[in-house]
Amino acid sequence: MLTYLLIAVAIFVVYKLFSKKTDDAEETFEPIEFQKFTPRTLSKYNGKDDKRVLMAVNSRVYDVSASKNHYGPGGMYENFAGRDASRGLAKHSFEIEHLTPLDRPIDDLKDLTEEERSAMLQWAEFFGNKYPHCGDLVESL
Ligand code: HEM
Repeated sequence: MLTYLLIAVAIFVVYKLFSKKTDDAEETFEPIEFQKFTPRTLSKYNGKDDKRVLMAVNSRVYDVSASKNHYGPGGMYENFAGRDASRGLAKHSFEIEHLTPLDRPIDDLKDLTEEERSAMLQWAEFFGNKYPHCGDLVESL
């Protein structure tokens, strides 16, 4: 009996996951104009304040709205939305403590180890290949 119950729950969970994905996939976004962002102006593109999701890696800003299920509200990587994710990606962590507070200067990443820097650069390449590069992260406009 318990087995049937578990199977029913598993089917329900899988169904819910897939139906959510389909809903997200229907949301499409026009390309955003290439521009400069400060950490503060980038922060509104978190999928809530603005429906688009942008994130920065290694000073470049990418439009990751197409993967809102990962980076949008409720997604596994939502902490990265609207933020400079460089340090988090370098350290393989999506915890908030690896994101520079918005009122601080842009993270210069100088303390990263060789390995962390290389991991971050590989992620930068991944984002560059997968998502539109829609701007650069700068200290002030
Ligand atoms: C708990 C362990 C983790 C699991 C089970 C996991 C699982 C996954 C899976 C299944 C995907 C592919 C998603 C897809 O293409 O549909 C993915 C992609 C990704 N993961 Fe993880 N992950 C984990 C940890 C992490 C950590 C710690 C980071 C942060 C540095 C991270 C960052 C990413 C990124 C940036 C992507 C690419 C998403 C995209 O296509 O834009 N993951 N992960």
